[in-house]
Amino acid sequence: MTKGTVLVTGGVGYIGSHTTVELIQQNYEVIIVDNLSTSQKEILEGIKKITGKKPVFYKVDLKNYNEVKNLLKKHKIDSIIHFAAYKAVGESVEKPLKYYENNILSLINTLKIAEEYKINNFIFSSSCTVYGQPKKLPVTEKTPVIKPNSPYGNTKKIAEEILQDTTEPNKNLNVVSLRYFNPIGAHPSHLIGELPIGVPNNLVPFITQTAYGIRPQLKVFGNDYSTPDGTPIRDYIDIIDLAEAHIKALEYLTTSKNKKNFEVFNIGAGKGYSVLEIIKTFEQVTGQKLNYTFAPRRPGDIEQIWADATKANTVLKWKTKRTPAHSLKTAWEWEKHYRTQIVKKSI
Ligand code: UD1
Repeated sequence: MTKGTVLVTGGVGYIGSHTTVELIQQNYEVIIVDNLSTSQKEILEGIKKITGKKPVFYKVDLKNYNEVKNLLKKHKIDSIIHFAAYKAVGESVEKPLKYYENNILSLINTLKIAEEYKINNFIFSSSCTVYGQPKKLPVTEKTPVIKPNSPYGNTKKIAEEILQDTTEPNKNLNVVSLRYFNPIGAHPSHLIGELPIGVPNNLVPFITQTAYGIRPQLKVFGNDYSTPDGTPIRDYIDIIDLAEAHIKALEYLTTSKNKKNFEVFNIGAGKGYSVLEIIKTFEQVTGQKLNYTFAPRRPGDIEQIWADATKANTVLKWKTKRTPAHSLKTAWEWEKHYRTQIVKKSI
């Protein structure tokens, strides 16, 4: 029996596609809205191969309210998971209006859809970037939110404010904002995974592309930080663990367990790894030797952050089950599968 219909915006993207798989496997009906601006349609085939079901898909831009509204007239939707957003930190510094327009307008239109169709369960894709460089580690949900140092990060902070304000007068609307730490890895089937367009900004796709020979060398941005090996520390979380967090958050809302109608949760493993530790682990689990060099710090990077995920552990009854070693192995298997089976050519 179906557990309900979920509108997944950005469902062809990295986190959206893995969450879609978990939703289908948990007997939810999924409707994906995605403009494919930073994702590729082949991922839909991967979802179908894994689950045996092709989700309903509309190539629509959420900035176009009327188009989305008309499409959704055909469906009865129970919940929304809103992933669709740009996420390249560096590009957002160069093109702030592109980020504010896309990320904020898409959120507003999605919220208007929620109000228009009385869809009362809403999960938002937020980020630990809202904490900036915290003074005290690990960060809890009570750690102060500061102005992030990129327009991308600021769209997440503003989005949370918009969500909170929207739930004030609309007491029927229930929102959970999930503040992700650093998602890595791929589905263990290797049929879907992270698929950056062009040169990857994030560490793990850059590592797998370098190991595959598509990039000549990985640059480690800074080895003079005040950390044990001098490289920055992040809380890397497996993509399937992250997808499962969405299922738990959805169950939490659909069974009305939430005490407030706007709640935030840290979604991390609770342990930090340095860039060098990630590189070493990748080499160990894949047997690949990685060509890397030290380079200057990347502007806007913080030194270290990891989560206190106690609230998600106790309230959502969710915790990470997979290690970075597992995630790095699945990321590598996905890279090989993608290159040999899907593109058969390098970028
Ligand atoms: C950043 C954002 C995060 C956002 C994510 C999405 C901040 C503080 N964090 O995460 O909110 O959700 O991007 O894109 O704004 N590194 C290298 N060489 C590389 C790439 C990365 O050394 O080629 C290092 C970085 O310096 C960093 C670590 O790897 O220390 C992780 O980087 P990355 O994967 O880009 O994630 P964040 O910057 O942590």
